[in-house]
Amino acid sequence: MVSLSVLLAGASAVLVSAVHPDALPSYHYGAPLHVECMNRSSETGEHLENAQHELEWIPFPVCEETNKPLEFHYGTEGEVNCTIAFVSDPFFHLLEFYIHSDAPLSCRLPSRPPAHVEVVGEEVPEQEYIPLVFALAGTLQQSHMHISTHLNVLLHSTPKHHMRPHDSGVLDSAIAYSTSPLSHMEGSYTRKLIIGDALPLSFSVRWFPTPALPKTEGKVEWQGLGGHIYASTVFYSIVSFIAGVLLSGMYLMGVVMPRRLKGRAMGGATPLGYGLNGVGNGWGYTKRSID
Ligand SMILES: *[C@@H]1O[C@H](CO)[C@@H](O)[C@H](O)[C@H]1NC(C)=O
Ligand SMILES: *[C@@H]1O[C@H](CO)[C@@H](O)[C@H](O)[C@H]1NC(C)=O
Repeated sequence: MVSLSVLLAGASAVLVSAVHPDALPSYHYGAPLHVECMNRSSETGEHLENAQHELEWIPFPVCEETNKPLEFHYGTEGEVNCTIAFVSDPFFHLLEFYIHSDAPLSCRLPSRPPAHVEVVGEEVPEQEYIPLVFALAGTLQQSHMHISTHLNVLLHSTPKHHMRPHDSGVLDSAIAYSTSPLSHMEGSYTRKLIIGDALPLSFSVRWFPTPALPKTEGKVEWQGLGGHIYASTVFYSIVSFIAGVLLSGMYLMGVVMPRRLKGRAMGGATPLGYGLNGVGNGWGYTKRSID
């Protein structure tokens, strides 16, 4: 008897807490998706926490074009400009951390619109988020930086049966990355940036209806560099990728970390390690003259 009632109590608890996904709201086509990012210390690049030891999420900086923090729109592809009007001293130092991927520009998007309480006393399901890292690329110099200001933004929605082309949906995953980081030519999207400048970011936004990359007749295929990708190519790429990861891991542990720790000990809080020792960036990167 006791075990049966425990069982029943357990079952009802599950019924109460498990909200069926269909009961949760999904985005309508064109609905705004607000980008929030981790607040970080401009001194160390570390994330900041509130009194409850929770991460502090703050809106993406305000874009001059809209007078609002950056937002995307569900299912809407296209070009989005976002000029950050004034790169302050702390923001400049954060950009240095982002460009070295020492602290990524870690942001997030709500996977669904906020849920409303339908029944009085019912608990609101917790808002879930998907990570959106902006892999900003650039090069650091003593007094300024070059930053690749054009980024591709890829957004995936969860698979579902679409009744109409512009049906509602839920976010699955996302990524944003600078394009052509090695191009410093006139007319390219690379910007020389000093403290006080405006930072004109531009985004090419594309959507995928599922977490998968584009397929033709059930096979993953790119039409990119002259046609199809074969299994051997994929295998070769994976092997080289793993080798690269291992090598860069060894490099990081063996070369960059010790130097960086040394930099810390000498009081260099920012990657450029201004003044003090005059050793330059102290990060194991060779400086390139680009100007
Ligand atoms: C981020 O944290 C810094 C340092 O605590 C604080 O001064 C700043 O106001 C925070 N940013 C926002 C938008 O809350
Ligand atoms: C974005 O900015 C570029 C450069 O200023 C401009 O040529 C382009 O038309 C803008 N695009 C949009 C969608 O506003």
